[in-house]
Amino acid sequence: MALPNLERNDTGLDSVCADIVPTPRLSMHSPIGLFDSGVGGLSVYQHLANALPYERYMYYADTLHVPYGNRDSSEIEALTLRAVDWLYQHGCKLIVMACNSASAYALTAARMRYPDVPIVGLVPALKPAVLASQTKRMAVLATKATLNGSLLNTVINDVAVPSGAEVVKYFDPDLVPWVEAGMPEDDPTAVRLRNQLSIFARDGIDYLVLGCTHYPFFSAFLQEEIAAQRLNIRVLDSGQAIAARVQHLLSMRGLLAVSAGSVLSKPPLQFYASKCDTRVLQVVKRLLGDDVLVHTISQLKA
Ligand code: DGL
Repeated sequence: MALPNLERNDTGLDSVCADIVPTPRLSMHSPIGLFDSGVGGLSVYQHLANALPYERYMYYADTLHVPYGNRDSSEIEALTLRAVDWLYQHGCKLIVMACNSASAYALTAARMRYPDVPIVGLVPALKPAVLASQTKRMAVLATKATLNGSLLNTVINDVAVPSGAEVVKYFDPDLVPWVEAGMPEDDPTAVRLRNQLSIFARDGIDYLVLGCTHYPFFSAFLQEEIAAQRLNIRVLDSGQAIAARVQHLLSMRGLLAVSAGSVLSKPPLQFYASKCDTRVLQVVKRLLGDDVLVHTISQLKA
């Protein structure tokens, strides 16, 4: 697949050029970068913004190429490295790869490329589910890429299997597009998800691990259904653990932003999308409210 080059964008900042990698000067005032194929990483941003409200955040959404989950590993790696290049070039002091699919195939390469900036990846929160499960049966809901990737399968082999836990992998290709479309309730995806909950319960599954950062946005829908159907199922995601990890890494490096005293409100999220249309704007506003500034990253043909 031919990847588009990124050019100078509407922020007036130069964007990535793969061959030139200057070392940005980092300080506590530098932004935290987040990356996802689309709006899913905003679920991680919400945890970060709650835990670290004085930080500045810069979010790269590759809305031109979403969803990543059905792409092959080399495509996911190339697209993800392009996003990481962009965030690095824009002076991020830490980068959160807020996408399980991207982390599965590009985390190692990104860390090797930028050893001077901490890069935090996402892996489904299976370990706490294994520890807490009574039935020792749990389901990981994720994209095909994440379910096949080595990050999750290492946790299965190192944690679940030795505990005698059985992990069911569940994949629905329509879940990410459903979230990107704003989760209309009359969509067949919602009906399928509702039915799937009773199947999980019937199979003795007591923990659902949301292994895609898009999925916490339908966590309330799941909780309502679980309560309505009186099911013994709990739902877990990685957002809170990621926020704690970011806080730890920044404080270890002396890069944690602190209250500026006179600053009463937190800075709005700077959201950059590789494709920005009315739908993207509406979904971002619906998920985050008005505390966000949306920009388009211009694209050039390769
Ligand atoms: N939010 C991404 C993840 O965590 C979605 C993947 C996709 O674009 O398919 O895996």
